[in-house]
Amino acid sequence: MPLFSASLISPEVVSQLPEGYTIRPLQRGDYAKGFLDVLRVLTTVGDVTEEQWNQRYEWLTQHNDQYFLLSILDPSSRVVGTGALIVERKFIHNLGLVGHIEDIAVAKDQQGKKLGLRIIQALDYVAEKVGCYKSILDCSEANEGFYVKCGFRRAGLEMAHYY
Ligand code: ACO
Repeated sequence: MPLFSASLISPEVVSQLPEGYTIRPLQRGDYAKGFLDVLRVLTTVGDVTEEQWNQRYEWLTQHNDQYFLLSILDPSSRVVGTGALIVERKFIHNLGLVGHIEDIAVAKDQQGKKLGLRIIQALDYVAEKVGCYKSILDCSEANEGFYVKCGFRRAGLEMAHYY
């Protein structure tokens, strides 16, 4: 079972992927397909066991109107790209919904094939479909150009407290 309905996957993005590649909602079985290795291009992941993965996946399924995680698979069914949209429910803007784009990663040997762009386009499609009025994200200066190419523009400043 996928994390959320496949009807939220943009048909246009599907048609623009390189031949043999697929994009779909996260699945429990993605643990064995290298999902966490893809995230390692982004940051530290740690030693997440399959049991821990299953527990987190179970939790995500209980919140699948809020957490939308995608996988891109190559022709050998290895996960080579991922991204997440988290939908925040506000009081302001007439009970507005804001999409938060997080954890975008493309396997090192697959970068430069527009997979990152397709992930963002696919998350934008989900955000629009579920009723978000905007999506926002934080990134490093080094990635600003990528997000500009994806249609984002600089808006504000990130600040953080680490615990
Ligand atoms: N700076 C400027 N332009 C860039 C960058 C960059 N860092 N990366 C890609 N681009 C350009 C490409 O040249 C391409 O331009 P074009 O249309 O003129 O040819 C366009 O952006 C689309 O590039 P893609 O091929 O889709 O990029 P890719 O598949 O390599 O994915 C990504 C980009 C996700 C940043 C990838 O390099 C990656 O996984 N990096 C490591 C992890 C990371 O930093 N993730 C983002 C964290 S921020 C967050 O998660 C919200």
